[in-house]
Amino acid sequence: MAEVATNVLHNVGNVLNSVNVSASLLAERVRTSKCDRLGQVGALLKAHAADLAGFLAGPQGKHLAEYLQELAGDLAAERDAAVEELTALRGNVEHIKEIVAMQQSYARRGGLIETLDIRALVEDSLRMNEGALSRHGVTIIRDYRDVPPIEVDKHKVLQILVNVIRNAKYACHEGTGEKTVTVRIRASEGSVLVSVFDTGVGIARENLERIFSHGFTTRADGHGFGLHSSALAAKALGGTL
Ligand SMILES: Nc1ncnc2c1ncn2[C@@H]1O[C@H](COP(=O)(O)OP(=O)(O)O)[C@@H](O)[C@H]1O
Ligand SMILES: [Mg+2]
Repeated sequence: MAEVATNVLHNVGNVLNSVNVSASLLAERVRTSKCDRLGQVGALLKAHAADLAGFLAGPQGKHLAEYLQELAGDLAAERDAAVEELTALRGNVEHIKEIVAMQQSYARRGGLIETLDIRALVEDSLRMNEGALSRHGVTIIRDYRDVPPIEVDKHKVLQILVNVIRNAKYACHEGTGEKTVTVRIRASEGSVLVSVFDTGVGIARENLERIFSHGFTTRADGHGFGLHSSALAAKALGGTL
């Protein structure tokens, strides 16, 4: 996520440079516009209002029509250039919007903080493991209490719950006795506590610390990444596993 965000800022920065150049050019064009000259012509005509025909026939007046025509041409050129610059400016702003929208869609896949009921997330993660749990004959016991909603990145919480429930299922499969996984939800000192208990093989005391290490596994087809990445995800959420 951080890498994506840095890249996005870099791209937006580049486009903002073009926006800045366009805006400066436009400002300069408007500042040096020849539109003031129309006012001067107006003042001149007003000053000769009593004898306009005489003025227009005189040495200054006889070039007025030509001058106005030329000025109209210059002003039209000014307008066209401004429109062109504005089009470029709008295109660049549009481009920035696209970059930001793309970043937002990335963020939706992860990093989006939502206010959620933890029960719904626990149910989702049980549902994601449903096939395997019933295939291995594992009984699920739900021990839920009402808890306040939490503000979390749903994807991180799901990642943790799915990993832990999957581990519980493996542990039951490796065990010999009863196969039960209990999920307990409690409010705990301003936070929410989710516990997953299983009646599986259990964890040897000397492994209790090691199970969070990257690559630690006791399973033949294990990878030892699940608890490590889950602990990191919990930390990123401001919680613990
Ligand atoms: N519910 C559990 N019961 C017994 N052992 C567990 C349980 N959960 C995790 N472990 C132990 O922690 C190790 C690491 O788990 P994890 O990081 O998920 O990797 P993996 O599942 O690939 O082995 C497991 O190999 C196992 O030894
Ligand atoms: Mg695992």
